[in-house]
Amino acid sequence: MKRHPILTSVLLLGLAIGLFLWTKPASGQASAVAPAATPPLPVSAEPQYGTCKASSDGIGKTYQGREIAQVMGHPGIGWLERTEREKEEAPSKAIAALKLAPDAVIADLGAGSGYYTFRLAPLVPQGRVVAIDIQPEMLDYMKEEMRARGVKNVQPHLGSVTELKLPDASLDAVLMVDAYHEFDHPAEMLGSIKAALKKGGRIYLLEFRAEDPKVPIKPHHRMTEAQARKELEAAGFRFLENRPDLPWQHLLVFEKP
Ligand SMILES: C[S@@+](CC[C@H](N)C(=O)[O-])C[C@H]1O[C@@H](n2cnc3c(N)ncnc32)[C@H](O)[C@@H]1O
Repeated sequence: MKRHPILTSVLLLGLAIGLFLWTKPASGQASAVAPAATPPLPVSAEPQYGTCKASSDGIGKTYQGREIAQVMGHPGIGWLERTEREKEEAPSKAIAALKLAPDAVIADLGAGSGYYTFRLAPLVPQGRVVAIDIQPEMLDYMKEEMRARGVKNVQPHLGSVTELKLPDASLDAVLMVDAYHEFDHPAEMLGSIKAALKKGGRIYLLEFRAEDPKVPIKPHHRMTEAQARKELEAAGFRFLENRPDLPWQHLLVFEKP
């Protein structure tokens, strides 16, 4: 498979950053994350949010008592594409657990390099994966991968920090992998997800387990089941289950009633 030289450099740079910084156990060191692509609005204009002293990998803005994490910048693509990921996260197991219909339309929200997108696409041959991100560089990477892999049923899509920018009731499911904790407007994003999902549509939320001290990911990039439920239930989603057999992550399933 032929890769563009710039993409290869980005891949290698990101791999180095990720290995050196991100995967170290949490302790307030610098991280492989970059500032959010769009600066947040002044918090005073957003009553549902609070403020706190920004921690090294947080943005100083809180939602439901949780400090929101910094966005991982596109130089982290190499880390997202690391080969150890199958051992660490068992993505094939997580994806098999979704039991998608072949004609399902699923959004990979916060798709990054498309690591999950390109593993989902073969499972929905008559449907499609809408791969949404706020960083155009991530979409460029995915477009290059689509060409290289000959994949047709992936739709790279530029969202914003507050909305998916998709038609109402156009999705059967939304998958978010290691992304939701970075949304700097989670309340607005949950409202937008709700509008874009069909009735009975599912959210599959994969987040590193904050309850588990053995998970070597910085604290702001992990979530407890209780916190995730608090936030998604407040937005009107029904919690269905937590599938407990992934090495590092929760796989939380919610439904739009
Ligand atoms: C840590 S990466 C995870 C990427 C991918 N899900 C994976 O697991 O390989 C998080 C991604 O979420 C994206 N993101 C952050 N806020 C977003 C938002 N409001 N809407 C869509 N994507 C967002 C970031 O740009 C970044 O690419």
